Amino acid sequence: MNKQFLKDALGWGFILWLIGYALGMIFFAIVPPAMIGWVITPIGIVITLWVLFKKIKGDTFQYYLKLAFIWTAIAIVLDYLFIVKALKPADGYYKLDVYLYYLLTFALPLFVGWRKKYYSEAGMDLYNKTIEFVDKSFSGKKPHFERTVFWLEKFLLGATEAHKIAAYAHDIERGVSGEKNREYLNLEFLKYHQNEGAEIIGKFLEKNGAGIETINKVKHLVSSHEFGGDDEQNVLMDADSVSFFETNAPHFVEKRFPIDGYEKIKGKLDWMFNRISSEEHKKIARENYEKWSKALEAYKK
Ligand SMILES: [Fe+2]
Ligand SMILES: [Fe+2]
Repeated sequence: MNKQFLKDALGWGFILWLIGYALGMIFFAIVPPAMIGWVITPIGIVITLWVLFKKIKGDTFQYYLKLAFIWTAIAIVLDYLFIVKALKPADGYYKLDVYLYYLLTFALPLFVGWRKKYYSEAGMDLYNKTIEFVDKSFSGKKPHFERTVFWLEKFLLGATEAHKIAAYAHDIERGVSGEKNREYLNLEFLKYHQNEGAEIIGKFLEKNGAGIETINKVKHLVSSHEFGGDDEQNVLMDADSVSFFETNAPHFVEKRFPIDGYEKIKGKLDWMFNRISSEEHKKIARENYEKWSKALEAYKK
């Protein structure tokens, strides 16, 4: 049991009980004793919900379940010591309002824990769902996509979820259509590849409840990641290229060269490097570009 949980369980459990106790003292002076519990209940609910939503940071249902047990135990024990034993109420203490209080003390944490879990599952997402979708389409994790996200975040200050989704999913067409017969030097094919990819990821986001702004942004970025366009499309294209030389170039030089031949591989390496829109980004890619170009020349001999 960690420190945070003890603070939440014992600290807030005690404070909430104390607030109820203090309110009881105040209302004792104003309303008939039989009414006190009923007046405090709605106030207590509001305060407890506020604490649960704003102050308690647990993110599993189990956390809130344990909290429910401890808060209820605190309420029962302290009530017994400081009301039943200490004050000896004239016509007894345990009435319907008190049982309702214990029930709420137990039920509210469970309710909030369930809500939080529900929302974190619905909201976690888009980006994580995209990762899942892309990985599945490619039958496994491709380092190229992680590295594209990595470089995009370096190149674009304040990259949003939409930017990261676009970076991770930019080649989704390849995952969905399969990797055979790739005309990766054919400009018409590349246009198809980026437009089709934008459609695929757009539909996926729509199905998963993304907002229209996110959908449009992602489609806009993916739809020109091969050729660039505006500043943000250029940044994705650059990140794609830098990542390519880290993660995909070896595959082209070592595996595709015997199949596709020298000209095609050389063309691919040059195209991926020359399209980089910023000198600064070129500088980052250059070392790997030269390394794999040299390796290709060595294979040729
Ligand atoms: Fe691509
Ligand atoms: Fe790519």
